[in-house]
This record gives sequence, structure tokens and C-alpha cells, in this order.
Amino acid sequence: MATVFKNTRLDIDLLRQFLVQKTFTAKLLEFARNEGIFSIMRELDRFTGKEFCDATAKMSGYKIDDAARKRMLFTLLDFFEECGYVLQEEPNIYRYSMAVKPAPKLSYHETEIVKRAFGDQSAFFGKCIDYAGVFLRGGNHLYAFESGMEEIWDKLLGNFEFSIVRDILLKTMAINGSAHGKILDLCYGTGHGLEAICRHFPDAEITAIDFTDVMKPLAMLRVDNTLAEVQWVDANTWCGFGDKLPFEDTAFDKVFFSCGDPYIPDHLRKDVYKDIFRILKPGGVLGMVAWGYPDKAKRHIRNEWRRKGIYIHDFAEGVCKGWYGFRDIDSTINMAREIGFVEDNAFSSNFYMLDTALWMFKKP
Ligand SMILES: C[S@@+](CC[C@H](N)C(=O)[O-])C[C@H]1O[C@@H](n2cnc3c(N)ncnc32)[C@H](O)[C@@H]1O
Repeated sequence: MATVFKNTRLDIDLLRQFLVQKTFTAKLLEFARNEGIFSIMRELDRFTGKEFCDATAKMSGYKIDDAARKRMLFTLLDFFEECGYVLQEEPNIYRYSMAVKPAPKLSYHETEIVKRAFGDQSAFFGKCIDYAGVFLRGGNHLYAFESGMEEIWDKLLGNFEFSIVRDILLKTMAINGSAHGKILDLCYGTGHGLEAICRHFPDAEITAIDFTDVMKPLAMLRVDNTLAEVQWVDANTWCGFGDKLPFEDTAFDKVFFSCGDPYIPDHLRKDVYKDIFRILKPGGVLGMVAWGYPDKAKRHIRNEWRRKGIYIHDFAEGVCKGWYGFRDIDSTINMAREIGFVEDNAFSSNFYMLDTALWMFKKP
């Protein structure tokens, strides 16, 4: 394991500096200041989550009847709490606070690294946060998986952090199983994960499915440079989450599902994973990339910057169509167990700061 991940550790060291999270903490606080949210909290002083939402609706015109927008406001509260701007005195009772942890200032050198290594990620989330006020006031979604937006998604999804995370997951799946067999890339997007699957499993039978074809040309171009062959499933045969996957029971040895989980509607989530369980062979593995939402006890995500980064990401991508957000970690573990999966996680303590982004579940 140590040899396989030798170079990955250098990449992890770069991620571990949390330069993007530090940059975006300042940006999200600036957003809140400009939107008058700090003044609202100061005036409220002691308040429930509902009172916070009602006050932002009244003072800033936020449309809080919509679940996605309301969720963004609760995520913002969690982010403020992490930064020290609110204290939670008891569950759902907040108090405005100035016990703020000083935000670090990035050096010139660090700012240059953010531009060079994390430019695409920063550009996407920057635009989302710049637009968040308009969206919260009822504006349309900024981005969707629709025609004309392929390049935007492509740039985001190819970012350094996502690429490292996918790579670690696929390396681990390769160590733990055979290099042959049948692999499904569920929701291939613009093909960044698919290209990595082709590199790691060139001899496997690879199938790719998504609920839309709009990103397929980009994905096809990307895998053209690899030695593997991909079977593309027509998007007309699958309407997306909630629709039964168009495959026989026990069809696959591996299912790779990267960055798609936050787009599953809440009420369909368990059924989606049951269906993945159905199409896996006994002994087959689901590898999944999705951050877990930080738990208040800080048991699962111990690093402060990691937690802030997840809140920022969740809030920012909230302006995208179909976003349901990162899921509670214990709920994911329990749901997988209830379905019949067993955890097959080799990540804990190897990449502590990425542990909750990487999941492997095995069908016994
Ligand atoms: C953030 S992208 C991830 C793409 C790719 N797996 C990757 O790692 O780059 C989310 C993916 O979920 C798919 N998706 C979004 N909403 C969906 C839905 N309701 N049903 C099925 N797939 C959906 C999108 O088409 C897209 O491929």
C-alpha cells in the first residue's frame, strides 16, 4: 500500500495546506458581510434556525420556502459556528458571538499556488458564491447539467482535488480486487473519472452511464487517449436517480460513483443504493467519492479547515440545479449496512483528511 501511494502523498501534502479553504473562508465571510447577514445576527442576538431564516427572508428578501435555499442558510450557520461567529448554546439555539478565530492571510507564494493548482475549482466556487445572493432571493439556478454548460463542469470536475481523490479510490479498488471483470462508471459527467478508470483498469469491461448525453462528446474525447474500450449506455434508457438502472442483477464487479451522491434527491437515496447493490455481483464493490457533512461532535472530520471547506463547497454548489448537499456520515454508514453492504474501507488513517470523501462498500 505504501509504495502504491508514494507519490500520492506529495499531492496530499499540498491539499493538506488547505489553501483553497483558507481563501474561500474569507470570501464567504465577505459575502455574508455584504449581504447584511452579520447585522441580522447581531440584531437577533439569540435565535433559532427558523428565526434566522425568517429574518433573512424579511430583511434580505431570501426565499426560504424552498428547501434548497433553506438548506444553504443552515449550512451558512454551521460555517459561522465553525468560524466562531455564532455559538450553539443548545441544539438549534444560536447566539451571535465575536469569539472569532483569526483568519490566516495567505502569502504571495501561497496565493500563486492557489491560482496555479486550484484555479478551476476556485473559479467555479467563486462564481457560485458571487451569485448566491441572487439565487437566495429567488433567481434561477446558476449551473445545470444541460447543453451549453459542459465546459464549465469539465473545468470544475477536472480539478486537482477531485482528481487526487478519484485516483486514490481507484488505486485502492485495484489493490483490493481483480484488474479484470466488469466496471460501471455511474454518472460519468465529462469523463474525468472514466478516464481514470480506463488508466487503472485497461483490461476490464467498462460501461458508462449518465442521465444526459450532453457531456458525452467531452467524455468520449477524454477516453479516446486511453487503451481501454468503453460501452456507452444511451441516456434514453435511464431517466436518472429513482429510475431502475438498465442492467441485469449481479452484472458488475465494481461500480464507481464519483461526485454524484449529492445530486440524489433525499427521498430516493436509499433506493438508488439498493439498486447499485442489486447490479453488483456477490463480492463486488461500490467505490464512491462524496464528502460527508461534518458531524457536530467532530468525530468523523477532525480538521477545522476540512470542515470549513465542506461547508463552503456545500453552500456554493447549492446554486446548482439538483444539488441536495453532502450527507450525514453516520446516516450513510447505516443506510449502507441496512441495504446489506459491508464497509471495505482501507482509507482510515492513511489519508485522514480525505477519509470522509472516499467510501468503499462491498456486497458480501
Ligand atoms: C458533479 S458531476 C460528477 C461527474 C463524474 N462522475 C465525475 O466524477 O467527474 C455529477 C453527475 O451526476 C449526474 N446527475 C445529476 N443529477 C442527476 C440525476 N437526477 N440523475 C442521474 N444523474 C444525475 C450528472 O449528469 C453528472 O454526471
